[in-house]
Amino acid sequence: MTVADRAAAGFHQVYAEPPAGRWAAPGRVNLIGEHTDYNDGFVLPFALPLRTVAAAAPQPGETWTVWSELTGETVDFGAAEVTAAGRVTGWAGYVAGIVWALREAGYRVPGARLAIASDVPLGAGLSSSAALEAAVLAALVDLGGLDLPAEAQPRLAQRAENRYVGAPTGIMDQSAAIRCRAGHALFLDCRTEQVEHIPFDLAAAGLAILVIDSNAPHRHVGGEYAARRNSCEKAAALLDVPALRDVPTDNLDDALARLPDDETRRRVRHVVTENQRVYDTVDLLRARQIQQIGPLLVASHTSMRDDFAITVPEIDTAVEAALAAGALGARMTGGGFGGCVLALVEADHSDTVANAVTDAYARRGFTAPTHTTVTPAAGATRLD
Ligand code: GLA
Repeated sequence: MTVADRAAAGFHQVYAEPPAGRWAAPGRVNLIGEHTDYNDGFVLPFALPLRTVAAAAPQPGETWTVWSELTGETVDFGAAEVTAAGRVTGWAGYVAGIVWALREAGYRVPGARLAIASDVPLGAGLSSSAALEAAVLAALVDLGGLDLPAEAQPRLAQRAENRYVGAPTGIMDQSAAIRCRAGHALFLDCRTEQVEHIPFDLAAAGLAILVIDSNAPHRHVGGEYAARRNSCEKAAALLDVPALRDVPTDNLDDALARLPDDETRRRVRHVVTENQRVYDTVDLLRARQIQQIGPLLVASHTSMRDDFAITVPEIDTAVEAALAAGALGARMTGGGFGGCVLALVEADHSDTVANAVTDAYARRGFTAPTHTTVTPAAGATRLD
């Protein structure tokens, strides 16, 4: 059964009626631009063909009921749970967070029944939470006839995650889940939220993106993420700029010289050089030179490993093995401390690269990785 069919079947089973509609939103990988979003910088994600689907229908009053195939559990909440942040926890907290954020922004949110099914793996760094938020938001906006254009939705979904769920993430994942276009990467300025859809036709170039799930246990993700964000904000204050995005690459050495310690200098160097790599990648893609972006991906990985210190041995092993097996470029994608690696490969070479990573894992005694090739898909949409 497809994920959309599972959502409809789940709805039927739980509520004994068909849904009024189904809304889908994708997971994402980030091609380049890591930990730049909350520094008001630049990112270049694209949406995955893996999606989360919300089947939904209105229900009377200010009450919401949501079932997920993941746990088989149904969670109910009402106005009391969405007047203050954090009252609904676990996976349903993302759903309640969207209701909370909409209400807080002044929208009259319709009561609703929802059934959620998903192909986006959890905890793999592919933004399953943003996919859930975006699918639920699309459903509630349509069911309630709310005047909330797609461009304004990522900020609201991010608020749900930051304030209701309590995860201090940037705006990349929600923007990808909502605004991506099939066949394109999303060049996003995280300060202005301006986007440019950059054609990213891997097949025409005889290339593929292999996504390798390290299957490494996520270690200290929340605390380490918040710590990185904190160092960046402190550094921006020390440099007297609104955000690290305002440190130009050609002034980097001056800026570094003004910072008090080596760790802060490394964090800043990552963010500033990573923004530049996003620009350089976009330039190459605009010139249809996809195969040339490999070294930028590798440089991004090195910077995340050595300067930002967010990789783990499984991730570094996957990148090294992919490159040794002939990948044109490879890097960790997402927040770090586990999750996925993406590798740019010749289309007919992806099995060789994937097998090389599997072998390297076996040699190191790591849990076997899993992999898939992906093409850029569309953002959130109503299915029917
Ligand atoms: C996570 C966050 C994003 C972004 C990335 C790192 O995915 O949700 O906002 O900061 O990490 O680039």
